[in-house]
Parts: sequence; C-alpha cells; structure tokens
Amino acid sequence: MRPMRLHPALLCLLAAWSLLLLIGGCSGSHAALDPASPQNTSIKNLFWLFFWVAVAVQVLVTLALLPAWLRRHRTIDPPPIDPEEHNTKATFIISILVLITTITLAVLLLGDFFTGRATHAAWYDPEPLKIKITGRQWWWEVQYQNDPEPYKSVTTANEIHLPLGKTIEFDLESADVIHSFWVPNLHGKKDMIPGHPTTLRVRPDREGTFFGQCAEFCGEQHAKMRLMVIVEAEDKFNAWLEAANRPAPEPVFENQKRGKEVFLTSSCVMCHTINGTTAGSRVGPNLTHVAGRQMIAAASVYNNRGNLAGWVLDPHKFKPGVRMPQNALDPTQLRDLLDYLEMLK
Ligand code: CUA
Repeated sequence: MRPMRLHPALLCLLAAWSLLLLIGGCSGSHAALDPASPQNTSIKNLFWLFFWVAVAVQVLVTLALLPAWLRRHRTIDPPPIDPEEHNTKATFIISILVLITTITLAVLLLGDFFTGRATHAAWYDPEPLKIKITGRQWWWEVQYQNDPEPYKSVTTANEIHLPLGKTIEFDLESADVIHSFWVPNLHGKKDMIPGHPTTLRVRPDREGTFFGQCAEFCGEQHAKMRLMVIVEAEDKFNAWLEAANRPAPEPVFENQKRGKEVFLTSSCVMCHTINGTTAGSRVGPNLTHVAGRQMIAAASVYNNRGNLAGWVLDPHKFKPGVRMPQNALDPTQLRDLLDYLEMLK
C-alpha cells in the first residue's frame, strides 16, 4: 500500500492559513498575543519561546535531511567501513543529539514553570475586586460583589467594566452546561463546570475594549456567546459602578410610562429584572441599565433602536435557538417599549 501523502498545494494552503491565524492573533481587541495584563504578557512570552524553539528544530532537521534528499536518485556503492569505528561515531552523534534534545526540553519546561509562577503573582493581592461571572446558555451574568455592603452589589450582563491596574478576581460558575471563560487579551481560558466554582485572577494594565468568547461548545448559540470587557481608569470605573448601582430611572414622558407598562404586563417580566420595578426574574439578563450597554444579545449585535426592535420581536432571527421567545407586540406597543428601554441608562 502506498503511504498517504499530502499534496504540496494543500500543505502550502495549511501553512498560509496558520500564518494568517498567527498574524491575526498578534494584535487587536480579540488577540491572545496582544496582552493587556502582565498575566497574558507572560503567556505570550511562553508562546513565542515555544514557537521559536519549534522553528529552530524544524529548520535544523530539514537542513540535516537535505543532503540525503539531494542524493536520493544516486545509486552508489557504500564505501568500505570499519564496523568498530562506525559504532563509536554513531554512539557519539546519538549522545550529542540526546543531550541537545534534553536541554531543549528542559528550557521549555523551565519557561512553563516560570510562566506559571508569573501568572500566579496576582494571588498575593489581599484585596482584589471580586466579580462573579455565571455562564448561561448563551450569555454571561456579571455580578460585582460587595462583601461588607451586599446591597451595593451590581448585576449586569455580557459587558464587564474593569478598573485599570487593580487585581480582579473572577469567580466563575455555570448555571447549566460546561462553558469556558476566555478574554484572549487578558488571560488564558478557564472552564466553567456546573457545580464546580472556580476563580481566575488578572490585573489589566492597558485601557481599551476587548472581546471575550465562550471557548467550550455549549449548544446551538455557543458561537454567539460573546462578551465585552472595558478596561478604564479607576475614577471612570468608579463612576460607572456608582451609576450601575442606582435603580432604573423613572419614566418622564407619557410614551415612556406606557412602555414601562408594556414591559411589566407582558412576558418580559417572566425572565428579566429591572431594579426599582416589580420585574425581578433572573432567567435572562438584568435590564436595569440596558441602554448603557454597547451591545445586546451577548455582544453579538450593537445596541441601537433597530437591533433592539428586531431582538424584542424575534430574537431567533439573530440567534436561532435562543431561550427568549418571540413577542407579538403591535407597532405602538413596540415603539413605547423601545422608548422606555432606551431611557434605561
Ligand atoms: Cu457557552 Cu460555549
């Protein structure tokens, strides 16, 4: 049987694809090799150490094989050799190669060890900001915990504000199936296994907006289980947290008042909370300040009036299989409801 061989064109295509992935990962708001924390900087350094060692090994092995490949069609009689001299030479060469391999693996092992130490440095911070993240099909519940004053805890969804330079402790949990919390610029992945809460610590060191993604297949809308992380200066973050802690603003105009009535008398209240109203269910995202969020539908579409209207009427158009039902509202009800939702800043 002939050995299976990859066509050279296919090999080139695979190499080009890997190169594209590598370039894509080097910079941007969803790029593991563009760190926004010391934790991810050490992971990035470890990646490049492994990468360049692997490149060097590949080049050396290819160079060593080259003379044999160039002579592959030549048939020559082997020169007469002294078996004893040959054995000594072979033993010497193999010993050197084993030594080089051992040193290479030791370098990678040490790199791995020191990266582990560096990513754990954040654990020595005695006062981290604790944020509980609960993975749900298919969105993220975000709770800013406030231990001495629990009434000041803030619940939001899919959009995580973080203060620059502070240690954050994410307490990770799943409410249903296995999810995996992954914000590539900040840290590695952490699986969220139902019934097994876990933690991840990170200290963002660069302002910016970064995207995260559930990294464990969790059902139909796994690919659109995204999240947004906004790293901002501490005073800006504190202002945001204070605003997020307030109850929802009261409607001022008639259309907004009617919109609130639509919300409270329709099926919205079965799943959502708006603090300061009678709506208090936690099946779906907390909507107290939904208008302040940049995106909806687990960071899969921008939060504007058109998308919000489409989402309320038929969320399955955006995310087939999503748990939120369609809502048959007449145009006036929809307009009033949107007027109300859009004032929830
Ligand atoms: Cu949650 Cu994939």
